[in-house]
Amino acid sequence: MTARNVLKPLVRAAMVTALIIILGLFPGIPVGIIPVPIVLQNMGIILAGELLGRRYGTLAVGVFLALAAVGLPVLSGGRGGAAVFVGPTGGYLFGWLLVPLLLGSLLYHLPVQPTRHWWWELLIVWSVGIFFVDLVGAGWLAIQAHLAFSTALISNVAFLPGDLLKATFAVFLSRRIRKIVHLEAGGA
Ligand code: BTN
Repeated sequence: MTARNVLKPLVRAAMVTALIIILGLFPGIPVGIIPVPIVLQNMGIILAGELLGRRYGTLAVGVFLALAAVGLPVLSGGRGGAAVFVGPTGGYLFGWLLVPLLLGSLLYHLPVQPTRHWWWELLIVWSVGIFFVDLVGAGWLAIQAHLAFSTALISNVAFLPGDLLKATFAVFLSRRIRKIVHLEAGGA
């Protein structure tokens, strides 16, 4: 492997981390029923899995979360700090870390090549990027806010319309970018 081959995915990972941070400039919209805002950053998390795959996607999201953990204001609304990870949104943040791993593995290793058919890819991205994250997020929220799991999970319906749009746009964008820069879905 040449230095260029190692550097290229690292530069891409850094670009995706920067994109996730930029998406955090969108302040987040409170939904009222639960202390979890509507954010744009989850679209960046999906893009990390879609464009970089499990290894470099996890690196990009991991670096982003590490920056947040050490207190840099990189989360929506300029938040950061270790306390956020044990707050109401901690489960979603943990889910975000696993998204590139799951997405990359499914897109790369499924016997049916999902990326050949956009609807397969969309289904996988919706399942991992939305439903999986909501499950993990609601699980922790239920514990943290002393809610019934079903209540916490049902509250996530408030995010669905926006999340379906964000995830669909991320798939559309990723398919175009992968074509232009000759990237393989699921990464290396
Ligand atoms: C944070 O900034 O502390 C994390 C916010 C998590 C928000 C979750 S991600 C899934 C769902 N969709 C949204 O738009 N908001 C929630």
